[in-house]
Order: sequence, then structure tokens, then C-alpha cells
Amino acid sequence: MTTPHFPRGREVLLGVSAGIAAYKACDVVRRLQDHGFLVTVVPTPASLNFVGKATWEALSGRPVHTEVWENIPDVPHIALGERADLVVIAPATADLLARVASGRADDLLTNCILATHAPILFVPAMHPQMWSNPATVANVATLRERGYVVMDPDTGRLTGRDSGQGRFPETSRIISAIEELSLHRADLIGKKVLVTAGGTREAIDPIRFIGNLSSGKQGYALAWAAAARGAEVTLISANSQLPDIEGISTIHVVSAAEMEAEVKTQFPKHDVLIMSAAVADARPENVIDEKIKKEQLQNIALIKNVDILAAMGKVKRSNQVLVGFAAETALNSVELGRAKRIAKGADLLYVNNVKSNEIFGSETTAGTIISSHGEELITGCSKDTLANILLDKVVDELGYANV
Ligand code: CTP
Repeated sequence: MTTPHFPRGREVLLGVSAGIAAYKACDVVRRLQDHGFLVTVVPTPASLNFVGKATWEALSGRPVHTEVWENIPDVPHIALGERADLVVIAPATADLLARVASGRADDLLTNCILATHAPILFVPAMHPQMWSNPATVANVATLRERGYVVMDPDTGRLTGRDSGQGRFPETSRIISAIEELSLHRADLIGKKVLVTAGGTREAIDPIRFIGNLSSGKQGYALAWAAAARGAEVTLISANSQLPDIEGISTIHVVSAAEMEAEVKTQFPKHDVLIMSAAVADARPENVIDEKIKKEQLQNIALIKNVDILAAMGKVKRSNQVLVGFAAETALNSVELGRAKRIAKGADLLYVNNVKSNEIFGSETTAGTIISSHGEELITGCSKDTLANILLDKVVDELGYANV
């Protein structure tokens, strides 16, 4: 795995639909780059009549695709949607607004829009009659109700003789709207987030240990996403093979006892603790200094480890947010998760079903987020996406805590 670049929060997916203002979107690409954004352009096939692929590739310095049928093994609509920190559709035609409002996915751009969790800004441009048409008015209202930002077009001269409201806004107005949206995403600025990741190892003798299959991917994704959203992040990592992330202070530990000591020191200095590490519930009672001979290796007496999450649940300040994970194999995993959240004093708990090793080491996750404010079913998404969904809930919890 390569070390991810840092800081994040600046990846823009620029969607271009088929309006003459597509040529003005070329300037938007340039200005975005001037402001430090990285831009991937996804034009609709029809928009290529106005500005061709070669122009977008030259301006963005990245390959440009229009159809879901290209690069099938990369699953481009999911990959592009997930990579984007922000999605901007400029220009957004009446047809594009209608297609998104009705949830259609008939080209790469509309697939990306459906697949992304990033905030989306629409920059409409069309003839005034189309903008004021009741169908367009209703579609814009639907999109705004769903939380998308839809800019109002400028008023003035359009192509042809008509004038009125429908002009593509000045680039500076678009850039301001994008900057505002990107700041909105930086909702953890000023917050300190402590994340544990990986799986602890409990020594049996100098060469053997009791361990587990946790890869650390979920914890690293959380640390990464929290940093991208502006938080100061400390990561306590147990035996993960993943590389340190630039900008994130990482403390390496091996055993549950080491993790417990670090969490105890660090938690009071943080606003949020996310216990995503798989901590061993018990350790060998006696650690032998020398390798145990096989004839003596028949029973290992175990002693319980401190439950770090539950211990932090007891000392947590009311303005701190505590997040736990639960790995369950039983069918009633959500019920068990509800009880576990309360028993351990966590504000949020993500319970996933780990039957047949589907979660450990895998790129995707499925489960349920449980809090006292409600539950959300996660039906299968990447660990990066889950990280951001969980952080949305953390931001909510920080809000409740400070009321
Ligand atoms: N955890 C912890 N310290 C431990 C064990 C677990 O902080 N010694 C935390 C994990 O980091 C996770 C949560 O507790 O956030 C849930 O762990 P889980 O896998 O459900 O194990 P247990 O709570 O020990 O429950 P069970 O009896 O089902 O194993």
C-alpha cells in the first residue's frame, strides 16, 4: 500500500453537463487548481459536443471518462464517488437536474452522484424559460430538500437574443460557493480525536502470542477521515502493517496493557475516543521468559484484560464522545450491540457481524450504528465511507454534548 497524500479534503469531482456554459467550466478547473484543489472531470457524453475530452484531460492532467462501461474492473463510479471530497456540477442543465432529482443513473456522472457521500454543489445554467419552468422549479426544490446546494443562476444576456435568469454564474461566485462547502466539511476543526486501531498481541513466551485477525484498516480510515475533516488526530496502533499517516501522531503498542496505558494518558487530552482496535479480552497469566517446550505447552492459564472502552466510559467527561465497536457472530447482533453500548458507557457503537471473516482484513463493512438518538443500518460500504458516516454521528454527538 502506498502512503496516502495529506492533507485531504480537496479532491473535487467536476461534473459537466451539456450546456454551452461548459466552455466557462474550463476556467473553473483552472481557478480550482489555483486554490489548491485537485480536479477530476466527469463530462456527460452529450457535453462533449461543447468541450471535448482532450481539453478536460489537458486542463485537469487526469484521464477523463464518460461511461460506466469504461474501466469496468476499477468500478469507476464507486471509486470516483468515494475519492471525491466535493462534487460540483457545472454547468448543470435542466435535464441533468431532472435526472438527479429522479435518481436516474444513465451515464458515469449520474452514477457517481448516486454513489458519493461527498457534498454536492449544482451550478445551473440554462435559458430563463427552462429555469422558470415548473418542472425545473420542482426538481430544484427536490434537490435542495435532499440537502444538495443548488446555486441560483445569474441574470443577464444568454446565448441568442434572450436575457433573464439562467446565466452561468461568474467563476469567482462559484469558487466562493465551493470554498464554503469545503469548509462546511471541515467540521472537526479544533477537535482532538483519539483512535485505536489494529489488534493487540498477548505474549505467551518470547516467540508466541495470542492475537487476532484485525488489520487496522478501519481505525486507519477513521484517523485519516478525521484528519481530513480538520481534527488533530492521535492514533494508537497495535500491530498493524499499515504505514504511518503523515500529519497524524501515531503511537505503536503491542499488548492490551500497553494500549490501556496509552489510552488512559491520551483520552483526557482529546474530545473524542474511537475504540476500533480489537483488544484481546484476556492474556496469559504467566509470561515465560524462555520458549516453552512443546511437551509443556498443553494449557495456558488466562487472566482478564481491562476493558478499555468500559473503563473510559466510566471516566468520560460529558463533553467527550466515546465510540465503540462490537464484533458479533450471533444473529441478534444488533440487540447485543444495544446492550453492549449501554454497558460500556459509549455514545456510539458500530456493531458488525464478523461471521466467516468477512470484515477482518476486508475492504468493506456492513453493520449497524447504534446511539441513544437512533440507529442506522450500513448495508455494505467501504471502510472509508463508514469512517465518514461514523464521524457525521460523532459531530452530532459533540453537538448534543455541548447543548
Ligand atoms: N474493547 C476494549 N478493551 C477490551 C476489549 C474490547 O476496549 N479489553 C473494546 C473494543 O475496542 C471495541 C469494544 O470493546 O470497541 C467491543 O469489543 P467486542 O469485540 O464486542 O468484545 P467484548 O466487549 O469483550 O464482548 P464479547 O464478550 O462479545 O467478546
